[in-house]
Amino acid sequence: MPSEKQHILFGLAESCLFRGDLDGLLEQTHQARRYLDLKQLCFNSDDDPKPISHTVFPDRPILMMPKDMPRRGTETLAGQGAFFHALAHIEFVAIYLAWDIIYRFRGLPAQFYIDWLIIADEEATHFEMLRQHLQQFNADYGDLPAHSGLWWHARETEHDILARLAIVPRCMEARGLDVTPGVMAKFAASGDQAAVAILQRIYEDEIGHVERGSFWFNTLAEQAGLDPEVHYKNMLLGFYKGKPKGPFNREVRLKAGFTAGEIDWLEDSLTTG
Ligand SMILES: [Fe+2]
Ligand SMILES: [Fe+2]
Repeated sequence: MPSEKQHILFGLAESCLFRGDLDGLLEQTHQARRYLDLKQLCFNSDDDPKPISHTVFPDRPILMMPKDMPRRGTETLAGQGAFFHALAHIEFVAIYLAWDIIYRFRGLPAQFYIDWLIIADEEATHFEMLRQHLQQFNADYGDLPAHSGLWWHARETEHDILARLAIVPRCMEARGLDVTPGVMAKFAASGDQAAVAILQRIYEDEIGHVERGSFWFNTLAEQAGLDPEVHYKNMLLGFYKGKPKGPFNREVRLKAGFTAGEIDWLEDSLTTG
C-alpha cells in the first residue's frame, strides 16, 4: 500500500485526461513532477484505463478539421497571433499525449513513466511560454479554432505501444525537429527575439522527447523479439499510412536516436517497404 505521502501516478493521469480543466491540467502536471522529485509518487496500477474516446478536452478552443481551418500568412500581426495559437495548441495536445502514454500502457518499467512525466511537465512549460507570448497579440489560448487532427494518431494507436511510440514521438514530434530551425530563422530575421528564445527552448527539449521515444521503441521492440528498424518502418506504413514528408534534419535526428538506415529510408521516397 502506498504511504500517506504517496500519490498514485495513474490517478493523477486520469484526473488530467478526463476533466477538461486547462488550468487544473497545468497545475496538476507540474505538481506531479514535484511529487516525482520528492519521491512521493508510486506506480501501482489496480484498475484498467478508460477508453481513449472518453478523454475530455476543455470547451475552448473549438476543434476543427484541418481542411476547415482558416489559412493565414505570418506577414500580419493577426497571422502571427494565429501561428502562435496553433503552436500553443500543438503543445497543449502534447501534454495530453504524454499523460495518455503513461495512463494507457500499464506494466512497463518505472523509468518509462518517469521519462514521460518529465516530458508532460516540459510540454506544460512549452504551452505556458507560448500562451504568454500570445498576449502580445492580445489573444489567449482558446480564442481561435484549433486543429482536431493531432489527437487522431493517439486514438489510432490506443492499443499498441510500439505504434504509439513510432507515430507520436518518432514521427509527429520528430517532424518538429525538421522544421523548427527554419521557423526560428524566420523570426530571427523579423527581429522577434522573444519568439526565437521560446522556439529554441522547445527545440532543445523536443530532441530529448524524440530520443526517449527512440529509446523506448527500440527497447520494447527488442523485448518483443522484433527488429526495431524493420518494425519502425512497418508501423509508419501501417499507422501513418506512408512516410512523412521531408526534408529531414539528419544531424538532429541522429542525436534523437534515429539510425542512419531509418533516415535513408525516410529520404528514399521510392522505397515502399
Ligand atoms: Fe513541446
Ligand atoms: Fe514533445
